[in-house]
Amino acid sequence: MKGSYPHFMLKEIYEQPESLLQTMRGRVLINSQSENKTNALQIKSDVHLGGISQRLSDFKRSSRIIFVACGTSFHSCIAARQVMEELTELPVTIELASDFIDRRTPLFRSDVCVFVSQSGETADTLEALRYAKKCQALTVGVVNVVGSSIARITDCGVHLNAGAEIGVASTKAYTSQIITIVIFALQLSLDSRSKQVRRKEIHDALLALPALVKKTLTDLDEHMKAIAQRLRDNTSILLFGRGYQYATCLEGALKIKELSYIHTEGIHAGELKHGPLALIDENMPVILFASQDACANKVQNALHQLMARGGISNMIIIGTEGDSNLEAFRDKAQLVLVPQTVDCLQCVLSIIPMQLLSYHLTVARGLNVDQPRSLAKSVTVE
Ligand code: M6R
Repeated sequence: MKGSYPHFMLKEIYEQPESLLQTMRGRVLINSQSENKTNALQIKSDVHLGGISQRLSDFKRSSRIIFVACGTSFHSCIAARQVMEELTELPVTIELASDFIDRRTPLFRSDVCVFVSQSGETADTLEALRYAKKCQALTVGVVNVVGSSIARITDCGVHLNAGAEIGVASTKAYTSQIITIVIFALQLSLDSRSKQVRRKEIHDALLALPALVKKTLTDLDEHMKAIAQRLRDNTSILLFGRGYQYATCLEGALKIKELSYIHTEGIHAGELKHGPLALIDENMPVILFASQDACANKVQNALHQLMARGGISNMIIIGTEGDSNLEAFRDKAQLVLVPQTVDCLQCVLSIIPMQLLSYHLTVARGLNVDQPRSLAKSVTVE
């Protein structure tokens, strides 16, 4: 039921403070009751993923982790890859399910393959799962729909618990997928002494995240509606990001194109000079993601390059509150500021304005928000 919302998509965007809470419930532990007294390091069990806890020793023996997914689910893997690599110190690769199947990439018993899917029924992801099982890799599902094929066939897994997602455009599943993979990384690094300070920073930021998502929604809805009015007649929009925001520009571009039918591209900001800069003139709308993280200086460079090519009148910067580096651009670009959180969760906040923008663009263009042309919620055929 849509309740008082005009569309399922808007309802699902606004449900995110609650869906994130549900994803964390019983998994991101608030107090230290479960302190492991037998462990000499006195490491606290601050997370608990029941669905994979029996297989922890298998994970620890594995030589790499391979994430396999399609569309928005693929982007959530990109968003969480860096923290998974950082905390597990394992090589992490990400595969588009269709390409993975085409290549029949070599897989080994020592590999962990994680299949990420909202519906749990996506044909390409399912076929990739069957292939991984044949290769005897350990298979893990990160799935929203309980009882779905991927949930049943994988060796173990975690449900997103995000609640039913009806709108074809995935919103709350995306943010729940990111934090599920982050919790997964916390679980795999639970007993790593050198990671404890970093783990605590991420753990505490997870607990604070739902309130920040709520604030972002309240602060930015009208702002994004106004920006949508300005962009509604454009035929093309380019989105740039890097580091933790690379996934955000890919996902933001997918949301806008699938709903508003405006051509959009999400481009790694490091690729600017390798081709995309040629597209920039004073008429090209550009959305740039700038966070206060390890990539901040490089993103500033990209910003200057874009500005120098005339991308001024149509420049939108998605930044973080309190970032003094952005003040210089206040007169030259539209600044959209989200609250700051730990680097690896910033993408959960910066995708919110993109969800709102794609929604308002679609309404402004008089299109079908919940059922875009030619698309289905669940892609059960290749
Ligand atoms: O159900 P899945 O997560 O496996 O679906 C994969 C994609 O079809 C899906 O994420 C699609 O890209 C979104 N509906 C786009 O918003």
